Amino acid sequence: MRPVPVIAIDGPSASGKGTVAARVAAALGWHYLDSGALYRLTALAAIQHGVPLDDESAIAAIAASLDVAFLEGMILLEGDDATELIRAEVIGEGASKVAVLPTVRTALLQRQRDFAREPGLVADGRDMGSVVFPGAQLKIFLTASAEERANRRYKQLIAKGEETTISQILLDIEQRDARDRTRPIAPLQQTADALLLDTTEMSVEKAVQVVLDGWREASLG
Ligand code: DC
Repeated sequence: MRPVPVIAIDGPSASGKGTVAARVAAALGWHYLDSGALYRLTALAAIQHGVPLDDESAIAAIAASLDVAFLEGMILLEGDDATELIRAEVIGEGASKVAVLPTVRTALLQRQRDFAREPGLVADGRDMGSVVFPGAQLKIFLTASAEERANRRYKQLIAKGEETTISQILLDIEQRDARDRTRPIAPLQQTADALLLDTTEMSVEKAVQVVLDGWREASLG
């Protein structure tokens, strides 16, 4: 039996990998895994239950029994709509903190692998190609300069009515990058077999096309 095809898209915070991954999945008619959402949901559940974000055993227990449902365009946590809530900056920050805890990562591993179902999966995160789906047929490392990512995030937050400044966002992005890249377990990295896709000066449409072309080539070879 052939393995379920997987396209792994990893990259830093606010690089646009989620948008690109979701559009590639839609174009191919495949499933989509936003692995960052699982870390965000774990952080949110911990905060809602009053658990400190450095209490590893308690957070790992939360991650292992996370009651989530990914519906069409909606994410439920313990039955409540958490779609918008998990996108808050404070939850992204919390996600990055719980993501350094090894037993939390282990608790979420199988849950992520379960998303690989026919006809295929596009998964985005930090360690999709390196740890969760090392056998992925196509691996992409999608990035953009920190300034461009701060710019993109600023526009999103302003559109949502949040008050912030580009310099504050840039600082947050740089801190998050440093934490995600330097943690000992499953750090953000470009694996040797991943294609580098720098979208600093590239539209979303073009980035989607590059991934689809990459898949066409990988599936032929
Ligand atoms: O992609 P995101 O911004 O939603 O991810 C939030 C945090 O979750 C990120 O800072 C690090 C962590 N994360 C991770 O460690 N591994 C993943 N595969 C996805 C996210």
